Amino acid sequence: MKTKISAKVVFLPLLAAIVIILSGAIVAAQNKPSRTPDIHFVPTPHEVVEIMLRLADIKKNDIVYDLGCGDGRIVIAAAKKAGARAYGFDIDPEMVKKSQDNVKAQNIGHLVTIQEADIFELDLSDASVVTLYLLPELNVRLIPQLDKLKPGSRIVSHDFDMEGVIPDVEATVTRNDGGTSRVYLWTTPLKKVSVKKRNR
Ligand SMILES: C[S@@+](CC[C@H](N)C(=O)[O-])C[C@H]1O[C@@H](n2cnc3c(N)ncnc32)[C@H](O)[C@@H]1O
Repeated sequence: MKTKISAKVVFLPLLAAIVIILSGAIVAAQNKPSRTPDIHFVPTPHEVVEIMLRLADIKKNDIVYDLGCGDGRIVIAAAKKAGARAYGFDIDPEMVKKSQDNVKAQNIGHLVTIQEADIFELDLSDASVVTLYLLPELNVRLIPQLDKLKPGSRIVSHDFDMEGVIPDVEATVTRNDGGTSRVYLWTTPLKKVSVKKRNR
């Protein structure tokens, strides 16, 4: 006995499968960074965040930018501890989402904004404090943007210096796990030194 299979029976499940595959591909594309991040996510331990914020002497009227904000811990801490307005920027949509979820969970959305952005395309002139946990060469690449900060602005970096710019403070922090981290503070205008001279 021959069974007749209607076109509808074959076509509809096929169409549904195509729609599911395409929407999965769209979601995956939306979660991908617009280009390869310059460094992947490694969090600054909370006790080091605390020292960085103290070193920068963050006050309520500061505007804090964390360049490559990861899970948002630095901007959240700046807002919670000092009541400062804080902006976190990250190129990775997954980290942006994570930061935004953390901001929501900590009920600090009135002070903290998270944006998807390439930090090398940002105008930093509104910030009075910039926090960094990147790489030495990325810190150096940021110098032309950091030069546009208002006089008296502070830049703090976890672990990495900025070749050619003299820090005001350079310190070693002992972490809760017994290891150590370096922290650096610069104030604007940046004090430049010729790299050749420094290496002599
Ligand atoms: C080492 S993690 C630091 C995270 C956070 N600032 C902290 O200290 O816990 C560096 C972050 O920078 C982001 N990132 C890398 N290249 C970037 C770029 N060009 N623009 C914006 N974010 C970037 C990564 O996605 C990652 O979340």
